[in-house]
Amino acid sequence: MTDLDWVPEGIDINVPSVARTYDYLLGGAHNLAVDRRMGDQMLEVLPGARNLVRLNRAFLRRAVTHLVENGITQFIDIGSGIPTVGNVHEIAPDAKVVYVDKDPVAVAHSRLILAGVERTAVVQADLREPEDVLSRPEVTGLLDFDRPIAALMLLVVHFSPDSEDPVGYLGRYRDRLAPGSFLVISHATADRRVDTMREAADTVRRNNSKDNLVYRTHAEVTALFTGFELEEPGVTGCALWRPDGRGSISDNPDDNTQVYVGVGRKPAGGSR
Ligand SMILES: C[S@@+](CC[C@H](N)C(=O)[O-])C[C@H]1O[C@@H](n2cnc3c(N)ncnc32)[C@H](O)[C@@H]1O
Repeated sequence: MTDLDWVPEGIDINVPSVARTYDYLLGGAHNLAVDRRMGDQMLEVLPGARNLVRLNRAFLRRAVTHLVENGITQFIDIGSGIPTVGNVHEIAPDAKVVYVDKDPVAVAHSRLILAGVERTAVVQADLREPEDVLSRPEVTGLLDFDRPIAALMLLVVHFSPDSEDPVGYLGRYRDRLAPGSFLVISHATADRRVDTMREAADTVRRNNSKDNLVYRTHAEVTALFTGFELEEPGVTGCALWRPDGRGSISDNPDDNTQVYVGVGRKPAGGSR
């Protein structure tokens, strides 16, 4: 351990992580100087970045609430990040929830806060390897794949370039899920503020982050839901997905649409 007792062994404290930088933007405490530098540079380029991440968390709350209202009792949150306020097991206290992230700080802190919390599990694994994620004992031991499961992938697929075939690996998740399961995605876009968003992606790249931002258009994000039926209102700006007032919408209209979100349902008769 370093003097920062929450930093796991083996972390290169000179390389920023998107998990810790996101934690910084959300006002959390699990970030290092190198992450705060990247976060501050991001804020210079995109002053609304804190709004974007808060709106994303507000969408998570609305989406999970919607799914609970639709009878979902099992969630797998992939790229779940460093736990912050309003985690899935808090929004859906009666549900079973597996948190998956590849970042060691996100995983270590998740294990810490979930120790002793029944019906939850934490797995260190990679989104891009569905067979590995879905066969982990923590996953198969907690989730019943014969019943619907909601797979949450918020602000994570946009770290995956087309060369990694996200439509393909998302399809492999879909094939394992029972009909009536859901896929929830939030994903950054450069459909608006093209230059600003290019600078934001360049900022991440210049900081030698291991993960780089890949923006997708509305049509490309919609394609990620192949094999799912989109719930109303379809793929839309984050704040415009069933806003309910409480912190759903920013005063700056650009912030409301800089991240696309969608909730898709696997139909009856969908492949398995
Ligand atoms: C921007 S944060 C989003 C956190 C949370 N999903 C949310 O929306 O509030 C992205 C998270 O995805 C994780 N991540 C990035 N690529 C990943 C991958 N290939 N597999 C698993 N996790 C990944 C990062 O470590 C980070 O914790």
